[in-house]
Amino acid sequence: MKFSTRAERIEPFYVMEVAKAAQALAREVAGSSDPMIFLNIGEPDFTAPPLVQEAAARAVRDGATQYTQSLGHEPLRERISDWYQQRFGVNVPARRIVVTAGASAALHLACLALIEAGDEVLMPDPSYPCNRHFVSAAEGNAVLIPTTAAERYQLSADKVRAAWNPRTRGVLLASPSNPTGTSIAPDELRRIHGVVQEHGGITLIDEIYLGLSYDDAFGQTALAIDDNVISINSFSKYFNMTGWRLGWMVVPDAMVPVVERLAQNLFICASTVSQLAAMACFEAESIAEYERRRAEFKARRDYFIPELQALGLAVPVMPDGAFYAWADCASACKQLGVQGSWDFAYEVMRRAHVAVTPGRDFGTAETHHFVRFSTANSMAQLQESVARLRGLLG
Ligand SMILES: Cc1ncc(COP(=O)(O)O)c(C=O)c1O
Repeated sequence: MKFSTRAERIEPFYVMEVAKAAQALAREVAGSSDPMIFLNIGEPDFTAPPLVQEAAARAVRDGATQYTQSLGHEPLRERISDWYQQRFGVNVPARRIVVTAGASAALHLACLALIEAGDEVLMPDPSYPCNRHFVSAAEGNAVLIPTTAAERYQLSADKVRAAWNPRTRGVLLASPSNPTGTSIAPDELRRIHGVVQEHGGITLIDEIYLGLSYDDAFGQTALAIDDNVISINSFSKYFNMTGWRLGWMVVPDAMVPVVERLAQNLFICASTVSQLAAMACFEAESIAEYERRRAEFKARRDYFIPELQALGLAVPVMPDGAFYAWADCASACKQLGVQGSWDFAYEVMRRAHVAVTPGRDFGTAETHHFVRFSTANSMAQLQESVARLRGLLG
């Protein structure tokens, strides 16, 4: 069977191989004294809070399961708009909010709406692999620009200016980022957007981890800068609803009808049950629970990162958000006699029964000696992982 060039250009998600191996080993060691600990998972270990669960059950019970409008259930768009006002002090009218099947569908729609075949989109290396594949799916080319710890692993205005050429269409950033948990400094972001605007390009920013921000210096939405910024967000991370497949994006007014047309044809709408349930995310009781969990994520970061550093797994920049630690394993590789982060991940998995994600999928610049730890796991599990890593490396 012949497949499209478009499909063939999408690289495999290599971390899934590691995840599969970890699952297989987990079954083998399930009954042992040291069962597998999963620090490779990029999703919260919490589930939706009670009011959200009840709202979902109510929607099903009431038969409220028909399609919604393609742009999303109106009252949900209003609630998201209120959330921007309350949390960020930014006025984002509901008419510019498009509810989607996760940030993934939003990214897909945005790329289809904006990218022509052959267009280039600038992104930092390292960055979340699927984001460059949304660009490829729209027949554009993601251009990865190596970043440094001093840049918080984010693009700078200077680098964007230097990389811009006639084929460049814009930038796709993520702040806070996966895999580094680091954000773009607000002034730098303003400068980047300035360079993009000068060239008539687009600034797409994936703010899926924005709710999980631990540092006031960074926790502001890019929508505060300009209405022309396109922001992607989701109920997956801060709202702990990964499998509910619900997200949204905020687009400039002119883009709404284009995205609506695409969404009508490609998806019809996001899950109605999830949309009705998500309304309850914004109740005071739910927000209080989310904030308690955010504090828990921060406490895990504050415990885990110094422990990694002490083990010789240097984390060059303290993450200011999300639930990841991007750690340099070069010296640990030497110690274990392995060749790079891919082998390191397998070695740690086999010998310590701790699953981690090698850097490979996230780019090419330094990823062969970086691994990503996820701290979306209980404090007890993180402590146990540290004890096992100490046994291996200490
Ligand atoms: C940076 C980033 N963007 C987008 C996504 C996709 O999220 P969603 O579940 O909302 O589709 C993820 C998921 O891990 C992510 O890390």
